Amino acid sequence: KRGLIIAIDGPAGVGKSTVARLLARQLGYLYLDTGALYRAIAWKVQDMGVSPEDQRAIAGLLPKTILHMACGPEQSHVLLDGRDITGELRTPAVTALASVVSAIPAVREWLLPVQRKIGAEGCVVAEGRDIGTKVFPQADVKFFLEADAEVRATRRHRELVAAGHSVQFDQTKRDLTGRDDRDRSRTVAPLIPAPDAECIDTSSMSVDAVVAHMMAVVAARL
Ligand code: C5P
Repeated sequence: KRGLIIAIDGPAGVGKSTVARLLARQLGYLYLDTGALYRAIAWKVQDMGVSPEDQRAIAGLLPKTILHMACGPEQSHVLLDGRDITGELRTPAVTALASVVSAIPAVREWLLPVQRKIGAEGCVVAEGRDIGTKVFPQADVKFFLEADAEVRATRRHRELVAAGHSVQFDQTKRDLTGRDDRDRSRTVAPLIPAPDAECIDTSSMSVDAVVAHMMAVVAARL
């Protein structure tokens, strides 16, 4: 029997990456950070100087793009056209641009086989917005994380400050809710819980409590 596919979806700043990494480590599974793939396309759009509004030009970049992700249980390395851009994917500019390019149907379509190939063998914890609904609708276990916008903005702001960015809390909160609104309202693969996902409100839960709960659910399926 192949290993499980575990899907974790939810809005920005809800703690998906943190818990997905911990879960992957405990299970000895791959951690698939699908947001990094959207960020990589955004990085290329920025690098090529293409306008974020020019959907046709962005779609036109895709056939000439070679994107690889080397996944491990922790960090994934992203190779774009032969260059390791892992360290350049979390800047505020790339974050904002990823949110815009991810609404382009051609981009989502192009990234589908990239994601599915990584998860093909199972033994993967995949994290994103449409994993349970679109990328791996057959996933063995699906979680949808939620948390109050205030809580998520606080977590994200703390993260940014720790990473050396000087940014105001209000700005962080506006960016985050703006991204969520775009993710929820887009026509292709909007952010929405899969009908068979277990929703977990993490607003007042510790990371350990969330992971322990998820592990118990996963263990019952192993
Ligand atoms: O998760 P992360 O913040 O790295 O994702 C960056 C952006 O990529 C999100 O704002 C979202 O718009 C998009 N995304 C997506 N579908 C996914 C993962 C990310 O649309 N499965």
